[in-house]
Amino acid sequence: MKRAFVVGYPIAHSRSPLIHNFWLRGLGLEGSYERVAVPPDAFPAFLDTLGAQGFAGGNVTVPHKEAAFERAVVEDAVARALGAVNTLWLEGGVLKGANTDVAGFLANLDQSAPGWDRTASGGGPPRAVVLGAGGAARAVLYGLLQRGFGEIALANRTIERAETLASHFGPKIRVLSWQAMEDALAGADLLVNTTSLGMKGQPPLDIDLSRLPGAALVTDIVYVPLETPLLAKARRAGYRTVDGLGMLLHQAVSGFERWFGVRPVVSEELRALIIADI
Ligand code: ATR
Repeated sequence: MKRAFVVGYPIAHSRSPLIHNFWLRGLGLEGSYERVAVPPDAFPAFLDTLGAQGFAGGNVTVPHKEAAFERAVVEDAVARALGAVNTLWLEGGVLKGANTDVAGFLANLDQSAPGWDRTASGGGPPRAVVLGAGGAARAVLYGLLQRGFGEIALANRTIERAETLASHFGPKIRVLSWQAMEDALAGADLLVNTTSLGMKGQPPLDIDLSRLPGAALVTDIVYVPLETPLLAKARRAGYRTVDGLGMLLHQAVSGFERWFGVRPVVSEELRALIIADI
């Protein structure tokens, strides 16, 4: 029987076991997917024992994505660009790693808002505003550049972090102050929140959307709650919105395929199962 894991610290909140065990059951496959809590100082030792524990591989979450990148053999261009690995597998005894967060972010928008990466104003490449400067923002910037976004305004509470992040990507990323960001919404096709604002237990992200064009799409990386205060405000103002749950579901697909040999589908039934748990 094949085993897979999600490793993090803490890990109790992870919905990944629900996702993978839903697919295992639905596909009639023998296998297991379990949460493993490993503090940072024990992470290298955990990786050393994967084969002995019978693991085919697993997912990596906070705070281990960078350490996993350091330890694994990484051929995946996305993981190399981000310096972070969220999917591990053993191949002939060698620990390999990839990053599926970018693919998850893009597949979620492709499925939920087809045409999201084309500008509504006609002509020219689409433009985005991205909020936040952590690991999630880095994945989002990479994905948007991959899809041909022409100009991306990046704003973060700590502007220095945004400047450092932007320096990895080149001239298409324009760092703005929070106030200037609200003005920059005027030309945007897409607004992405990657900050933890709006997450359950955190203050809401409260920004003035009045300059954002009516055809723009608003999306959030946060999925607890499913409809964040930002998405609720955008929806009430008539914008198309996409919640963050789909990114979690889609980033899981290629790991499952590697460990268990079948490519699973992100279905409405799976979404409903996770929503019932949120
Ligand atoms: P991740 O890797 O998931 O993106 P992170 O590195 O912890 O997470 O980044 C969290 C993001 O949320 C950061 O952009 C952070 O802003 P700072 O860089 O200024 O810390 C943002 N964030 C968290 N709490 C915030 C708050 N109360 N107000 C504004 N931004 C906040």
